[in-house]
Amino acid sequence: MKTVEQIKLPIVNEMERFEEKFKESMISNVPLLNRITHYIVRRKGKQMRPMFVFLVAKMVSDGDFNERTYRGASVIELIHTATLVHDDVVDDSNRRRGFFSLNALWKNKIAVLVGDFLLSKGLLLSIDNDDFDLLKLISVAVREMSEGELLQIEKARKLDITEDIYFDIIRQKTATLIAACCGIGAASVGGNEVEVEKMRKFGELIGIAFQIKDDLFDYTDAKIGKPTGIDIKEQKMTLPLIFTLNNCDVKERKWLINSVKNHNKDKKRVREIIAFVKEKGGIEYTTSKMESYQQQALEILNTYPDSEYKNSLQLMVDYVIDRKI
Ligand code: IPE
Ligand code: IPE
Ligand code: MG
Ligand code: MG
Repeated sequence: MKTVEQIKLPIVNEMERFEEKFKESMISNVPLLNRITHYIVRRKGKQMRPMFVFLVAKMVSDGDFNERTYRGASVIELIHTATLVHDDVVDDSNRRRGFFSLNALWKNKIAVLVGDFLLSKGLLLSIDNDDFDLLKLISVAVREMSEGELLQIEKARKLDITEDIYFDIIRQKTATLIAACCGIGAASVGGNEVEVEKMRKFGELIGIAFQIKDDLFDYTDAKIGKPTGIDIKEQKMTLPLIFTLNNCDVKERKWLINSVKNHNKDKKRVREIIAFVKEKGGIEYTTSKMESYQQQALEILNTYPDSEYKNSLQLMVDYVIDRKI
């Protein structure tokens, strides 16, 4: 059995019902929108975020579950989808989930508006059902995601990123939403404030490891359904490169900065930068950082009694690190 199937075992029925509800949550009276959302639903992603919502809800309540949990999962996946649609516009990326991105097919104008539509549908799903506690967790994540993306752009322009700022960026642009998943899972089944906060922290640690993994993919030519090798082109300096900049001599540093600044669209030069980062141990360093976040997340899980849900969450933490897409 594949790992993902194994992880899903305790929530197979819930994931099936979720897919139906998720589809319904996007319905509109505008035919163009329905064609586009139909396309989105067909090209679904790994659905890791709803899995986190369900598994955390079940772990903290010992199997309990309710409609609030389903709504929480739908809101999160709607907002995740909205941010990906916008992210591909921002990153000028033409592939997503193994196929064309929305901006590649329908152009930026439409992609921006579809992203807004999905975001509003998510927020309304909480508001219309008086899930205000969940809405608060979500809204913090939405704010932080835009801040993270903007901070990243600012740093890409100035090329003055440090390791601390890198962690700020990925915590905000990626980890905050996975933190919200786990917080919402706990809150949806009546978890108290301490528990919700603890699960938020758990999600944040995984989210950081998750984005580090994503940044490592960019240094490979793995087939992950979206472009690799584009971070340097976009002048996005991630941990392997930041480490290398801090661990080379002045001349090499000048060459690196000049390459990212002035030769970032030159494919041969980008390959040289990647080779240099590898030679300097940037990948090993980044991998060990990722693993330390993985360990911290597992430690939080270990404060819970054993259950099939906890077991799935442990597998899920490892999957974040070992995944092939
Ligand atoms: C992609 O997230 C965006 C990042 C935060 C790196 P996922 O890899 O979870 O995307 P899908 O939903 O499976 O396509
Ligand atoms: C992650 O950003 C997406 C968001 C958090 C909005 P990236 O630009 O690094 O992710 P991919 O590689 O396009 O999925
Ligand atoms: Mg992107
Ligand atoms: Mg991006």
